[in-house]
Amino acid sequence: MRVTVNRKAHFNAAHRLYKAGWSDEKNLAVFGKCSNPLYHGHNYDLTVSVTGEVDPETGFVMDMKVLKDLIKIEIEDAFDHKNLNEEVAEFKTLNPTSENIVVVIWNKLRPKIDKRHKLSVTLYETPRNFVSYCGE
Ligand code: NI
Repeated sequence: MRVTVNRKAHFNAAHRLYKAGWSDEKNLAVFGKCSNPLYHGHNYDLTVSVTGEVDPETGFVMDMKVLKDLIKIEIEDAFDHKNLNEEVAEFKTLNPTSENIVVVIWNKLRPKIDKRHKLSVTLYETPRNFVSYCGE
């Protein structure tokens, strides 16, 4: 019996989307308002989903308290109220698009979760724009 447990989380962060070597005009044409050279913020929402067999002893797929603490330490503490481009090592040379952020989050969580479980992460940059990654 495989069940998915989901945990929601949240962080605020600033970013700028741009490609070094492109003019500000070209960056604006490709990345729009997200290329503002002076940065801007988003209220990111996150759903982390872990799928696995229900342990017959505990009745859990994964202890939600453990998942909560893991997301807090690995993601919220690392990203919340940060300038992603300037302050988060993973984005020093990686454009902090929603796509790249969700992959970074997945890569940070994956080693901390039971290998037998499937991990999927959904990241909302706005209530209407969101991306998902499950390692494929
Ligand atoms: Ni943006």
